[in-house]
Amino acid sequence: MTIAFNPLHPVFAAECTGIDIGASIDATTAEAIHAGMDKYAVLVFRRKTALTTQQQLAFTRSLGELEGPYTTIRAQEGMRLESEQLSDISNLGPGNRILEREDRKRLFGLGNQLWHSDSSYKQIPAMYSALCAHVIPPEGGNTEFADMRAAYDMLDASAKRRIEGLVAEHSRIFSKGALGFRFTDKEERDFEPVHQPLVRVHPRSGRRSLFLSSHAGRIVGWPTPEAMLLLRELTEHATQREYVYRHVWHVGDLVMWDNQATMHRARPFPDAIYPRDLRR
Ligand code: OGA
Ligand code: MN
Repeated sequence: MTIAFNPLHPVFAAECTGIDIGASIDATTAEAIHAGMDKYAVLVFRRKTALTTQQQLAFTRSLGELEGPYTTIRAQEGMRLESEQLSDISNLGPGNRILEREDRKRLFGLGNQLWHSDSSYKQIPAMYSALCAHVIPPEGGNTEFADMRAAYDMLDASAKRRIEGLVAEHSRIFSKGALGFRFTDKEERDFEPVHQPLVRVHPRSGRRSLFLSSHAGRIVGWPTPEAMLLLRELTEHATQREYVYRHVWHVGDLVMWDNQATMHRARPFPDAIYPRDLRR
């Protein structure tokens, strides 16, 4: 089958057809996917059923290295998924029970509703994220994506000059902390901020983009209120409707995004009633 990219939005995001992502991906196919990501930054692969854990890990590995382990916030009763290499993006605990309202994993997961770029709080932030839908609620729970390259391009010359060379500090303390989430002393130590440039150049496409994330909370050398205001103002600019693609999930979808070129956020749903099970 021939590989095709069908745009889903005027600025970015496409559906990719002609690749069986459940089978092994050869080097030529992997390169076609990278090229599609360079252009569209968000790719949607639709399947009738969700990938198995082994299929999803194999697909992901065909495009790059998996991220190493990091401090996770678990549900009271422990882990739900069998593999430590999958991130459990769900409102469920072991046995697929819906998490209690006060469960720390639930409260932590609510932070995904803030615009962010995955793992921007790590020394080496995430390149791609691949999220696969197992169970979808009947209402709400969409995921929105915003194009940070378009957001950079649309800044006027003086705004570009103002932010050139700035370095932001990123930590989960800033993102989850903004929602009032409480950390243990150990988590506070583990979540020491890391430095990231505010403008970055994509290693493959060479395009410049805004490196924003809810995890960004300070700018090196700037007073905190001024830094937070600039980050907010840029985030507002970068998430205007014309730069946003909204993904409405179907079971079996795998959506892959380039964290180097986009931000994303989850949208709310009635999470006390319906399960939502996505795996990244
Ligand atoms: C993620 C994420 C958003 C969602 O998996 O990194 O932010 O809609 N997910 O669940
Ligand atoms: Mn995320």
